[in-house]
Amino acid sequence: TKNIPCLITIFGATGDLSHRKLFPSIFHLYQQNQLNENIAIIGVGRRDWTTDKFRSEIKSSVEKHVQDTDKLDEFMEHVFYQSHDVSDASSYQDLLEFSEDLDSKFKLDGNRLFYLAMAPQFFGTVTDFLKSSGLTKTKGFKRLIIEKPFGNDLASAEELNKQIRRSFKEEEIFRIDHYLGKDMVQNIEVLRFANAMFEPLWNNKYISNVQVTSSEILGVEDRGGYYENSGALKDMFQNHMLQMVALLAMEPPISLNSEDVRNEKVKVLRSIRPLDESEVKQNFVRGQYDRGKIEGEEVKSYREEDKVAEDSNTPTFVAGKLLIDNFRWAGVPFFIRTGKRMKKKGIQVIVEFKEVPMNLYYQRDNQLESNLLVINIQPNEGLSLHLNAKKHVQGIETEPVQLSYSMSAQDKMNTVDAYENLIYDCLKGDSTNFTHWEELKATWKYVDIIQNVWDDDKAPFPNYRAGTNGPIKSQLLLSVDGFKWWDDI
Ligand code: BG6
Repeated sequence: TKNIPCLITIFGATGDLSHRKLFPSIFHLYQQNQLNENIAIIGVGRRDWTTDKFRSEIKSSVEKHVQDTDKLDEFMEHVFYQSHDVSDASSYQDLLEFSEDLDSKFKLDGNRLFYLAMAPQFFGTVTDFLKSSGLTKTKGFKRLIIEKPFGNDLASAEELNKQIRRSFKEEEIFRIDHYLGKDMVQNIEVLRFANAMFEPLWNNKYISNVQVTSSEILGVEDRGGYYENSGALKDMFQNHMLQMVALLAMEPPISLNSEDVRNEKVKVLRSIRPLDESEVKQNFVRGQYDRGKIEGEEVKSYREEDKVAEDSNTPTFVAGKLLIDNFRWAGVPFFIRTGKRMKKKGIQVIVEFKEVPMNLYYQRDNQLESNLLVINIQPNEGLSLHLNAKKHVQGIETEPVQLSYSMSAQDKMNTVDAYENLIYDCLKGDSTNFTHWEELKATWKYVDIIQNVWDDDKAPFPNYRAGTNGPIKSQLLLSVDGFKWWDDI
């Protein structure tokens, strides 16, 4: 691998994401020699801290998040802090001078990566100032990583996009969707396009339905302020869930070139059938958690959480049925589900195949089980294929068997965090695993319709107990079509 000199400036550097994910990831890249001496990181934050104070904070959080801290002290020499007021021009002048100093001290070739890990209302202000202060006028590359949420609906996303495009070109903007950095999410594409046995079956002739679930045990934690205006639909469905749908449903790209992959993703996202009001009510189910038991302990209801309204209408769960109007998928429902305070933490894709044309083994009570391809994304990472085979008894009865691959403990030790993959991709200038504006546009368009219907109508919340699989209605969503969620598989 090639070392890439760069100055990384992180806005929101004292925040949670930066402590839990960004610094541990950048440190790991450094430790693994994917970054070398030619790297410097400026943490930018409101707090009036010194570099020493910041280093000691970062050091202790890195120690908490990585096992092997070899080279950590050395890495810390590359970390700096600047106390900053995002809406004050002089702060950016200071930052410019500081950046130029570090550039010559660490020989960074003028490469600059700006990482916005802060409250989204400041995204546009920061990018405007980055330009007007001269920070983006540099002889090397300039790139912007931007955290979600990217807008709150299509109109605000468009507004924000226009604003940041004043300072950065589309190819310089890297919109993070951390699911795209997960190893098993990246594996969906490999599984489909590197094996001869799946792609011929990957269509409405052989697949009856596809299920994508991301369930969490955690509640809203201390993010009530943000979550109240977001909810499961905008926090998870618009981005992570629809990105997984795109990877599962897209046509084979003509190459792995980022533009070729993206074109296919955009195309399939645009083929999702838009809903009208009555279809939203039929095909989408929202939920909000009540009190309940998680791992033996009583937990609060969502409405009792910090910074949440007592009569909050915000969904913490969403399940939906999507139809994709193209030759490949016509008639195959994609069932999507995500929620907080559910039974278990798990991200899983299940592809259910149609039945054989006739069941030769239908004697007495012998039922054939459905053929399933299960892709486990988290916490287990692996695949399994559910088949029918002969039972080891006289006569011909069948029994379900599984072919499974699961990532070894050894490999697991070496897996890198999604953020590490993505930060490194950005340094290389590879935007394949980031969200392009056209993808955002298509997903917001779809989601806005649902949100509008829900905004106009107060839900009978809370409607599921913490520690369960969500509201009963989410089961009915499948049963009307003769399917069920493959839970506990
Ligand atoms: C984030 C959401 O994008 O994804 C969180 O804002 C959610 O609310 C998280 O908890 C889930 O990510 P993961 O990787 O744990 O599935």
